[in-house]
Amino acid sequence: MPAISFQSVSKTYSTAKGPFKALDGVSFDIEEGEFFGLLGPNGAGKTTLISILAGLARATGGRVTVQGHDVQADYAQARRQLGVVPQELVFDPFFSVREALRIQSGYFGMKHNDAWIDELLENLGLADKADANMRQLSGGMKRRVLVAQALVHKPPVIVLDEPTAGVDVELRQTLWQFIARLNKQGHTVLLTTHYLEEAEALCHRIAMLKTGRVVALDRTSELLKSASSNVLRFKIDSKLPRQLADMARITGRIVQFPAHSAREIEQYLAAVREAGLHAEDVEIRKADLEDVFLDVMAAEHPLRMAV
Ligand SMILES: Nc1ncnc2c1ncn2[C@@H]1O[C@H](COP(=O)(O)OP(=O)(O)OP(=O)(O)O)[C@@H](O)[C@H]1O
Ligand SMILES: [Mg+2]
Repeated sequence: MPAISFQSVSKTYSTAKGPFKALDGVSFDIEEGEFFGLLGPNGAGKTTLISILAGLARATGGRVTVQGHDVQADYAQARRQLGVVPQELVFDPFFSVREALRIQSGYFGMKHNDAWIDELLENLGLADKADANMRQLSGGMKRRVLVAQALVHKPPVIVLDEPTAGVDVELRQTLWQFIARLNKQGHTVLLTTHYLEEAEALCHRIAMLKTGRVVALDRTSELLKSASSNVLRFKIDSKLPRQLADMARITGRIVQFPAHSAREIEQYLAAVREAGLHAEDVEIRKADLEDVFLDVMAAEHPLRMAV
């Protein structure tokens, strides 16, 4: 039995401009114990899919189950299996951190949960803020509380919708260590993030969404193999000629070309020289998940639908 199963899920929002299809036949399963990444550009439908999973939004069509429980027909059982860290910062400003976690425990009928609450506070760097009022916390600290709230009932399936947005580097590392440990202990993890190096490091498999459809789904290692194998990267001081610029990824002074062979790399460098430009800090690196992501999003047709 998969931990999460999405079966032909579609969602159409009604808007002032008419119906808007945010999800269009999304189907895939996440196995028990997997660390699964759901990636996609802004507006691809990631949060919509998670809201349907968490029972916060209703699918227009299709079916979703958590550990075999239908999220609509069997809402209470399905919800109990899930710990969801929402993308939006929502919290009750009147409670302290510890009170908020105790109340959340109460929702799930857990009365003596203080030992686990203390462990969560410790692992999420919140121990010294336990008695602070929620409104006294910084943005990154509020996000940590959301993570703690999601984990308070030790759910077998953990869903994180951009948990590290606005979180500093040190805490991101502690957070990932903690989540990875829970995953090792058998918890299933579904993660969305725009930090692709985090997804590359953590996720066993990855699905990519584009305008409400799955356009890639595979093991992370297979996705990485599919990329143009190398990337030529250098800095220049003036503008590249149009013809070259069209093939490059440009960030300020940094220019990157996907390259499949040494010959291609030589050709790019020769073209830059012929254009009268001087390439500095030239390096060749292996393609990473960000390169794969950009390739997949630029492709007109789905690249891979292996399930
Ligand atoms: N309540 C709503 N009513 C109408 N349209 C909505 C609603 N919620 C989301 N949408 C639209 O559905 C699409 C998918 O939104 P969603 O929030 O799922 O994207 P996302 O992949 O989570 O993006 P991001 O990376 O920015 O968080 C967007 O075009 C969004 O504008
Ligand atoms: Mg979102």
